[in-house]
Amino acid sequence: MHNEVEISQGLYYVGGSDRRLALFENVYPLENGASYNSYLYLDEKTLLLDTVDRSVSEVFYGNLEFLLGKRKLDYLIVNHMEPDHAANIGELLLRYPDTTVVINPMAQQFLLNFFPDIKAKFLLVNEGDKLSIGKHEFTFVMAPMVHWPEVMMTYELTEAVLYSADAFGTFGALNGDIYASRRNFDLNEARRYYTNIVGKYGPQVLEVLKKALDIPIKMICPLHGPIHKGNLNPLLGAYGNWASYTPEDPEGIMIAYSSVYGDTALAADILAKKLVGRGLRDVVVYDVSKTDSSYLVSESFRVGTILLCATTYNAGVFVKMEDFLHDLANHKIMNRTIGFVENGSWAPAAKANMKRILSDLEGIDYIEESLTIASALKESQLANLDRIVESVVARLRPDEKKAEAEGGVVDMAAMFKLSYGLFTLITKDGEQDNASINNSFFQVSDKPNLVMLSVNVANMSADTIRKTGVFNISVLDETADFEIFKKFGFVSGRDKKKFEDYDRPIGRSENGLIYLRSGSNAFFSCKVVEVKEAGNHVLFIAEVTEAKTLSNVPSMTYAYYFANVKPKPLPSIKKPNASGEKKYGWRCKICGYTYENDPLPPDFVCPLCKHPATDFERVEL
Ligand code: FEO
Repeated sequence: MHNEVEISQGLYYVGGSDRRLALFENVYPLENGASYNSYLYLDEKTLLLDTVDRSVSEVFYGNLEFLLGKRKLDYLIVNHMEPDHAANIGELLLRYPDTTVVINPMAQQFLLNFFPDIKAKFLLVNEGDKLSIGKHEFTFVMAPMVHWPEVMMTYELTEAVLYSADAFGTFGALNGDIYASRRNFDLNEARRYYTNIVGKYGPQVLEVLKKALDIPIKMICPLHGPIHKGNLNPLLGAYGNWASYTPEDPEGIMIAYSSVYGDTALAADILAKKLVGRGLRDVVVYDVSKTDSSYLVSESFRVGTILLCATTYNAGVFVKMEDFLHDLANHKIMNRTIGFVENGSWAPAAKANMKRILSDLEGIDYIEESLTIASALKESQLANLDRIVESVVARLRPDEKKAEAEGGVVDMAAMFKLSYGLFTLITKDGEQDNASINNSFFQVSDKPNLVMLSVNVANMSADTIRKTGVFNISVLDETADFEIFKKFGFVSGRDKKKFEDYDRPIGRSENGLIYLRSGSNAFFSCKVVEVKEAGNHVLFIAEVTEAKTLSNVPSMTYAYYFANVKPKPLPSIKKPNASGEKKYGWRCKICGYTYENDPLPPDFVCPLCKHPATDFERVEL
C-alpha cells in the first residue's frame, strides 16, 4: 500500500511516521513518535532525497513502487548517513540497481562503513556543485556537525526548496498534515530535538544559517517533522537564538531541584513563589528525578536564568542532578545566570560539586547569594531566598533597580510593555503622495467620531499634515510583509518618492489620498480639528470623514511584527570579555540600527530610519 503526498507538481513526500518508538536514538523520550521524511522527484529523471528508518520501510517502498511504476530511480541524494535516514540504502539499491548515489566524499566513507559490500554507482559532490534532472536543479551545501560531520543540505533552485537534513526537524509523528501548523508543530519539541541532538554545535549551525540567509528559501523540508513554508522568519529566529546560546526567553527562569524527602523541593517552591511575587512571572519548576534530562536541557536553552536546588549525596551532589548537569555541560551552553540552593544535613557539598561540573561553561554569571539548608528550611533563612530573588531582579530589571536606587518611580522598561497597532500613514502634498509607518493612532471619541494621531516632529508627514489638514491611515494586517515596512518606514519622503515604484494594489479615497489595498484590513480618511505639540511629537486630533473595512484578517500589532515579520539579525555567540563585564547598546526596533553605547541619549534619532529614542531597545553587544 502507499501513502504519499504531492507537495508540488512532480515532487512527493514518501516518508512515514512511527508512533511506537519510545526513545529516539534510544535516549530521548518521545511523546508521539517520530517521522522519517524522504522526498521523490518525478522529472525527466527521477530523484530521491534520503531513505528512511527501518521502522517505516514498508510504506516507503509502497510509495516508491506506486509513484515510479515502471520508471527507474535515477538518483539518490544522501544528505545524512545516520541509520534513521540511511538504513534503507542497501535494500533500495537492490530494488533499484541503476540508481546513482549522489553523495559527498565523507558521507561515501560512512556509507561504505555501514554497507561494506554495496555495489553502487557514485556521483561525488562538493559545496556548490550542481545537478539537473530536467525542470529541477539541485546544488549542495555542506553542513558539518549538523548533526554528524558528513551532513550536507541540498537546495533545489527552481522552487527554492531547502532539504535541510536534521536541521529544522522536530520530534513527533505527522498528524495527516505534512506542513507545520499549530496542530502539527510544537516549538517546545523542536527545541528539545535541536538542543539535545545538535545543541553542542552552535558555531557550526550558525555557519549554515548564514548560508541559508543568503539564498531565497520558500520551503524547508527536514528529515524529521513537518515541512515549513510561508513566513520562515520565526523558525530561523529561533534557530539563531539556540545556535548562538542566546536565551529565547531572556526573562525565563527555570528552577530545577532534586529532593529526597521534600525539604529541598519546598525551598524550591518557596523560591518560585517569591520570584513570581516580585513580578518575574516566567518561572518553571522541575524535579530532576521526575523530568527527563532532555526536557531540562531544552528549557535551559529557552530561559536566561537557571536556579539549581540540590541535596548532598555521597559527599557530592544528588545523582539525578549530577546526571542533568553533566548533560548540560556536555551541550556547552553559555551566557546564562545560574544560582544555587543546597541541602546537606551534616556536610553540605552539593553547591561546590554543581559548580565544579559546570566549571568549563563560558559566560556564566553566578549569583553571589546562595543558601545552604541543614535538613529543612528555617524561618530565618527566608531572607536568604529573598536575597537570591533580589539578585535575579537586579539582573533582569536593571532599570527598575536603578530607579529604586535613585529614588525615582519611573521604570523606563515599563514603557516597552505598552501595546501598539501598526499603520501606514498616508499624506499628499500637491501632487506628491507620501507614506510612513506609524504606531500611534487610535479612537478617542465616538460622538463625534474623533481619532488621534501622534507623529514625530522630524517626520515629513508631520509637516504635510500641518499644511494640508488631512491624512489617511491604512490599518496593517497580519499579511503585511517586511517589504511594506522597508518601503514606507526606512526612508524619508524627503529622499524618495515612495509610491513611484510601488506596484501593489492601492485605491484613492474621497479626499484624493491613497489607501493600501493589500496587507491592510481597513482604512480611515481623517480631517484635522486640533493640533497639539507634545514634546518631540505633534498630536493631531481629527474627525473621520471616510472609513472602509477591506478584510477580516487580524490587525498587525507591534508584538506580532517583531515575532513574525521583522527578520532577526543572526545572533553571534557572545563571549564575555576578560573582565567578565557585559557590554550593552541600543537597537532601533524599526530598522535594526545598533547604537553601540549605553545609555542612549534621550534625544537620539536613528540615523537610518529617523525614528526616535523611544523606538530603541537595550541589547547586549
Ligand atoms: Fe535524524 Fe542525525 O539523524
